[in-house]
Amino acid sequence: MEFISFKSYEELSAAAADIISKQIVENPSSVLGLATGSSPLGIYAELAKRCARGELDFSLIRTVNLDEYAGLSADCEQSYRFFMNKNLFEKINIKLSNTHVPDGTAKDAQAECSRYDELVKKLGGIDLQLLGIGPDGHIGFNEPDSRFIKETHLTELSPSTTEANARFFKSKEEVPKKALTLGMGGIFGAKKIVLVANGPSKKEIVNKAFFGPITPKVPASLLQLHPDTVVMYSEV
Ligand code: F6R
Repeated sequence: MEFISFKSYEELSAAAADIISKQIVENPSSVLGLATGSSPLGIYAELAKRCARGELDFSLIRTVNLDEYAGLSADCEQSYRFFMNKNLFEKINIKLSNTHVPDGTAKDAQAECSRYDELVKKLGGIDLQLLGIGPDGHIGFNEPDSRFIKETHLTELSPSTTEANARFFKSKEEVPKKALTLGMGGIFGAKKIVLVANGPSKKEIVNKAFFGPITPKVPASLLQLHPDTVVMYSEV
């Protein structure tokens, strides 16, 4: 695991966009694992700019998103499918049919989780996984637990996650209580992992996750064992 500190969020986003751009240029049909939330927004804006300038071609790129709120459909503004369409997919030349997000409205959540794991397998695995980190150390929505859960699963969101994500909803009560998330196996199986975190509020969890003991109580800590992970942090 490599740890890099940056002076600003802009510098961090440009450097992370460089790694993703290199991946796309070297393998134009790469499978990118993508995240939502505030942390990747600067990266997505940078990638969209590079695509508009003709420097990046997403026409053969496939994407798999980490997670989706249970019960939210694609046309709901708070859904992660809506977020991805708005912040990245509509701004680049990707085929929407090549983009994948778990279906939060699936009647049989377990079947949807199995379908998602099969899909990742069929795509040949994830070449590059982009991650943020939650205040409780979650990646995707793999919440602190007594064990690492390998498969895609339906999970109960922790109070800290509900609180952190309330900013995207009218009230805390509106935040869905459950989500479908790629499991730790799917994430850890990515050939390359780029985790981005910024702001003073992430300092403590970044230290705990990447310089503390490896434990399912801090799910991101498992990345210390991944052979090709870069953690990019900016305090500002
Ligand atoms: C989002 C996701 C989450 C976020 C994490 C950090 O798809 O999987 O793990 O990456 O909650 O969110 P932000 O970046 O908003 O602080």
